[in-house]
This record gives sequence, C-alpha cells and structure tokens, in this order.
Amino acid sequence: MNNKTVLITGASSGIGLHFSHKFAQAGHDVVLVARSKDKLQALATELEGEYNVKAHVVPADLAKAGASKSLYEEVTAKGIGVDILINNAGFGLFGEFEQTELQKEVDMIQVNVTALTELSKYFGKDMVKRKTGQILNVASTAAFQPGPLMAVYYATKAYVLSLSEALANEWGEHGVSVMALCPGATKTGFSDAAELEQSKLFQSGVMSVEDVVDEAFKSMMEKKKVVIVPGMKNRLLAGSIRFMPRKMVTNIVRKVQERI
Ligand SMILES: NC(=O)c1ccc[n+]([C@@H]2O[C@H](COP(=O)([O-])OP(=O)(O)OC[C@H]3O[C@@H](n4cnc5c(N)ncnc54)[C@H](OP(=O)(O)O)[C@@H]3O)[C@@H](O)[C@H]2O)c1
Repeated sequence: MNNKTVLITGASSGIGLHFSHKFAQAGHDVVLVARSKDKLQALATELEGEYNVKAHVVPADLAKAGASKSLYEEVTAKGIGVDILINNAGFGLFGEFEQTELQKEVDMIQVNVTALTELSKYFGKDMVKRKTGQILNVASTAAFQPGPLMAVYYATKAYVLSLSEALANEWGEHGVSVMALCPGATKTGFSDAAELEQSKLFQSGVMSVEDVVDEAFKSMMEKKKVVIVPGMKNRLLAGSIRFMPRKMVTNIVRKVQERI
C-alpha cells in the first residue's frame, strides 16, 4: 500500500484505537471519528508526533440521525479523499429483551447498522467512481448465530456480515474490496459498555486487541478474504456451528452468555 487516507470510526478506544496506530505506523494518514473529542485530539497529536503522518479529528455521535451525512460532508469539504474506510464504532447491551432499555437498542441499531450502511454508501460510491478502495466493516463472531441475552446486538452483527458479503460481490468488479471482520471476545472497553463483565463469555479465552488488529491488517493487505475471523479457536467455533442445528446453537449461546 502507498500512502493512503484511512477513516476509522470508534477510534477513541479498543479495536479502533489500535487500527489507528497500525495504519499510522504503516505511514498512512488517518481520519479519527468518535464522540470523545479530547481523546481523539490527544491521539492525533501522538500519531503525528510518532509516525510523521497527518491525523484529522472529526468528532461525531453516530447514534444521531444525520450524523453520517454531516461527517461525509465535513470530510469532503476539507478535501480529504478516503481510500480506506474502517466502520468499527459499535456497542452491545446485555440482558433479557423485555428488561433492556429500548432507547439503548435503538441507538445501537443506529450506530452498528444505520451509520455503517450510510458511511459505506457515501464513501463507497466515491471509491467505485475512482475504481479503487477498501472498506472493513467490524462485525463479530456474534454474526454467525442468534444471541439470547444480547438479541439485538447479535442481530445487528448478522446484518453487518450479510451486507459486507453482498457489497464485496457487487463492488469487487469495480476495484473496491469490502471485508467483514468478525472478532470473538476481545479485551477492550466493549464488555464494560455492554455490562458483560460477569458473562461466562468474557471470563475465558479473550483475545488481545493487538492480535485481532494484526490479523485483520494482514488480511486487508492481502485482500484475499471477505470474512476475517481472528484466532484459530474462533475460526474453529465459527466453522463448526455451520453443521449444527440452529436451535441447538442458540441454546448453547444462551448458556455461554449467562452470568456466572
Ligand atoms: N470487544 C469485543 O469483544 C468485540 C468482539 C466482536 C466485535 N466487537 C466490535 O468491535 C467494535 C469496536 O468495539 P471495541 O471492542 O473496540 O469497544 P470499545 O473499546 O468500547 O470501543 C467502541 C468505540 O466505538 C465508539 N462509539 C460508541 N458509540 C459511538 C457513537 N454513538 N458515535 C461514535 N462513536 C461511538 C467509541 O467511542 P466514543 O465513546 O468516544 O464515542 C469507541 O471508540 C464494535 O463494533 C464491537 O461491536 C467487539
């Protein structure tokens, strides 16, 4: 890859923060997006000082309707062309569906699904015109089956996987690659935000964020895979459930999700 400009949503922590370091370290300019303006500004200063790249800060609350359009317009007005889009911002929520807060779930759909779709459309259309570009959508191993006790989150990630595979098919012939990154449980701020710290899922086999981002980065450079599942254990699990009855898989997920 020559010097590119990479827009990363959810750049203020976890997977997005590490992607920002990874791309800047490889000599690429970055556009950092999240709500936490102070964290983004500190990160931009760090990246520019350490790697001699340009780091733009564009704070945005992607749970707000219209935020993606404003983000696209702001970036375009600044004359920034986005070569690589990392749709990473997202969050989950743990709990039984009748007890979880609806507004949180509506916001989750807005961030995980609607904003991701809008940004793929706005920036992806420009990539198709230029006949070059890459989009990485952060889904999850949650995308491969239903998830009792995190029903809406799992459903949002199934959408991300499906959309990414379809766009990869449509846009491959236009020189634009689209990939879905499907990490399993990863050590970031995600489990706190989703109130998952007591869940069995996060008590064992959590991957480091560095390993997840390293694998994803390598796959992106090689441009061979549409679906990236970091970690051998996660790949085996994701592969094996394809051959099991869906109802049985759903029951297993419920057991794994329950608090200890
Ligand atoms: N950690 C895991 O186990 C795991 C596993 C599979 C998939 N994933 C996926 O990986 C992605 C990144 O999560 P993470 O694990 O890195 O969690 P994280 O550390 O909590 O980071 C989430 C990022 O999303 C941003 N964000 C959240 N709501 C936003 C909003 N309304 N507008 C703009 N930005 C928003 C946050 O920034 P601000 O708070 O500053 O806005 C933060 O930068 C998510 O899509 C998640 O579903 C995570």
